[in-house]
This record gives sequence, structure tokens and C-alpha cells, in this order.
Amino acid sequence: MTHETQLQADQVLVEEWLQKHLDSLWPFGKLVESMGYSLLSGGKRIRPVLTLEACRLCGGRAETALPLACALEMVHTYSLIHDDLPCMDDDDLRRGKPTNHRVFGQATAVLAGDALLTNAFEVLAKTPELPPECQIQAVRCLAEAAGPAGMVAGQILDMDGAGRTLSFDQIRKIETLKTGRMIMAALELGCIAAGENGDRRLALLTYGEKLGLAFQIQDDILDQEGETEELGKPVGSDLKQGKATFVSLAGADACRKMVEDLTDEAAAAIAPYKEREFLCWLAEMLAERRN
Ligand code: IPE
Ligand code: IPE
Ligand code: MG
Ligand code: MG
Ligand code: MG
Repeated sequence: MTHETQLQADQVLVEEWLQKHLDSLWPFGKLVESMGYSLLSGGKRIRPVLTLEACRLCGGRAETALPLACALEMVHTYSLIHDDLPCMDDDDLRRGKPTNHRVFGQATAVLAGDALLTNAFEVLAKTPELPPECQIQAVRCLAEAAGPAGMVAGQILDMDGAGRTLSFDQIRKIETLKTGRMIMAALELGCIAAGENGDRRLALLTYGEKLGLAFQIQDDILDQEGETEELGKPVGSDLKQGKATFVSLAGADACRKMVEDLTDEAAAAIAPYKEREFLCWLAEMLAERRN
């Protein structure tokens, strides 16, 4: 199987699980419709793929990791719905479609985000494939990554930094928190599903730390240099909001070098493991992505 085919196979697993899960929810008015609108709208599914692949690298079965992977994607999707709201980045396009609040209104968009977030933890606590102690580890891992010391902390610093000139370290902190922590959690959830507590877990976390930062820097580059059609979200959103990013601080060329270096460092972190090829390929692919 080529890496490309493996990526597609993982993405299909995630799509099918999410579709089935949504079908199982009781349709209260337009809430589930609004959740499904954003959840099943063709994201890259990078985070859940990382969970499945980390689990495989640790000798576990991808099927065990699948509910954890999808729970994380649900939290990620909530973060995108809220990130696009007028009170935050005020964007009209996401995953190639009008943003959730443009279609369903702000109140429903906020509630769809809330529902995805809450329901993700219900999924983790109900995963029959995992022993209860692993469920607790997974809940803790995702809560720490998404919560007030993780993604949400990054988002408030990102909002507070708008219109200001921040230092290199301040921007690194924002980007690590708002994006890096969820990507690290994706890898850690794979380790939890595989019952891996040793060196492989540490190596995958370092890989995730480097990859997560590279991923957000590439996102910032694409915000300046991408094509809206290809990106599926508006180009120039950071500039419009006066966001402090590595691109605004150092320019796109310096950022490309940072992405390259971080991608090499990510690959180096998992160099000891012979099953590393897919994750190294994925990091390279993400460094060159156009969406
Ligand atoms: C977008 O994430 C938000 C960031 C953290 C940069 P993705 O680029 O993974 O978005 P989707 O899930 O593919 O739409
Ligand atoms: C948002 O970063 C990261 C999240 C936690 C949602 P951005 O605001 O740069 O993400 P995009 O560019 O809107 O996807
Ligand atoms: Mg934002
Ligand atoms: Mg945004
Ligand atoms: Mg962005």
C-alpha cells in the first residue's frame, strides 16, 4: 500500500465512523444538522489520522483508536466553528463552504460547537474497546489539550495579540497552544489506545510538538500566499484581523525555513522506529500542502 492509499484508507475510517455516530444522535431541531454540516464537510482529518497511525506505530489496532481519533476531530471541529464567529476571526468560508454561523445563525453555531465538545467526552467515556483506566487517560489527555491550559489558552492569547507586535517567543507560545497541543494530543491518544507508556510515547509527543508548530506556521503562510479556492477558507484573514503570526513578524521566506527545519526535527524524533515511514511522509506532505 502506498502512503497516499494508506492516508485515504484512514480518512475513510474516520468519515464512516463520524457519519455513523451522527446518525445515532437524537435530532433536536437543527442542532444535529448544524453539527453535521461542519463535521462532515471534508476536513483533511489530519489529527485523527495521526491518532490511528501513532496507535499502529505502537503495535496497537487502529480500530481501538478510532473512537478516540474521532472524538478529537469533534473537538477540533467545534474549535473551528467558534474560531470563525464574528466575535473571533469573523470568517465566512470554512472547508470550502459558508461558515456554520452564516448558515445556521450565531446561536446555533455556538450550541453546535458546545454539543460537539461535550459529546466528544461522552464518546471517550463510552468507548467499549478501551479498559476504564485508558478511558480516563484519554479524557484527561483531550481535556488538557483543548482546555484552559491548551487550545483555548492559545485562542485567547491569539485574540489578545491582535493589533500588537509580539516577540518570537510570544508567537511560538500562541501557536503551540492553539494548534500544537491538539496535534500532540492526537498522537498521545494513539499511544493510550495502544497501551504505550514508554519511549515510543515520548518520541511521538516530540514528533507532534514539532509537527504541530510547523503545521500552524504553514497555515499562517497559506493565509498570506494561498488561494481561497484551494484553501477552502478566506486568504488574508490574519491580516484583516491584525493577527500576530510568524509571517507578520519574520516574513514568509523565514517561515518556510522554519517549517522545513521543524519537519526534519519531527522526523528525527521518530528515527529509531522502523515503522516510522508513513509519519515522516505525512510531515513532509503537510509542509508542502496548499490547503
Ligand atoms: C485549521 O486546521 C486550524 C488550524 C489549527 C490551523 P486544519 O488545517 O487541520 O483544518 P481542516 O480540519 O483540514 O479543515
Ligand atoms: C485557529 O487558528 C486554531 C484553532 C484553534 C481553531 P486560525 O484562526 O489560524 O485557524 P484558521 O486559519 O481559521 O483555520
Ligand atoms: Mg483564529
Ligand atoms: Mg481563524
Ligand atoms: Mg489560520
